[in-house]
Amino acid sequence: MKSFLPDETRSLKTLITQERLQERVSELGAEISESYGEKDLIIVAMLKGSFIFAADLMRALTITVNIDFMSISSYAGQTGSGVVRITKDIEESITGRDVLLVEDIIDTGLTASYLMRVLKQRNPASVSLCALLDKSARRIIDLPVDYRGFDVPDTFVVGYGMDYQQRYRNLPYIATFKTGERSEQR
Ligand code: IMP
Repeated sequence: MKSFLPDETRSLKTLITQERLQERVSELGAEISESYGEKDLIIVAMLKGSFIFAADLMRALTITVNIDFMSISSYAGQTGSGVVRITKDIEESITGRDVLLVEDIIDTGLTASYLMRVLKQRNPASVSLCALLDKSARRIIDLPVDYRGFDVPDTFVVGYGMDYQQRYRNLPYIATFKTGERSEQR
């Protein structure tokens, strides 16, 4: 049984339990399997935040699927502008294939919107978006989310792949910080 140091979890409050996550990921897996059927599906998972979700989602799929990974970072001083730099690109060609972009969380929508544009330029058969969490109240750009795990309130979340200063990614549930326990940085 894994135990976190009291200092690590003292300031956290569970938002979505491990059981609820597993249940919802299974539902998404069934829905996506049903939509894609025999198609040539490739998951493009965004590092690092979506790696745990993507791994669980992939195991919940009952169809043939490939996976590749992409990593981005905001240009220095332009955080929140939607201008990102691809620091690791996918290695497979997506031309003519059905792509599912898998994100941990959609906040303003700028990052996912940019990535959808980049992927569409490569002539795939289709590109859809799957996000575990949707902070829809903070959206500043119109962005259809095809498969959504949960809508979450406008609060910073960690766990299940998501971090605060690179920590908490290994929490098996999703948590928020109790008021005043985290300096307000995004
Ligand atoms: P957006 O471009 O504003 O939609 O930002 C999306 C990205 O910001 C996500 O892929 C995360 O990496 C990060 N992010 C946004 N909100 C949170 C959060 O509450 N916890 C952890 N990361 C977050």
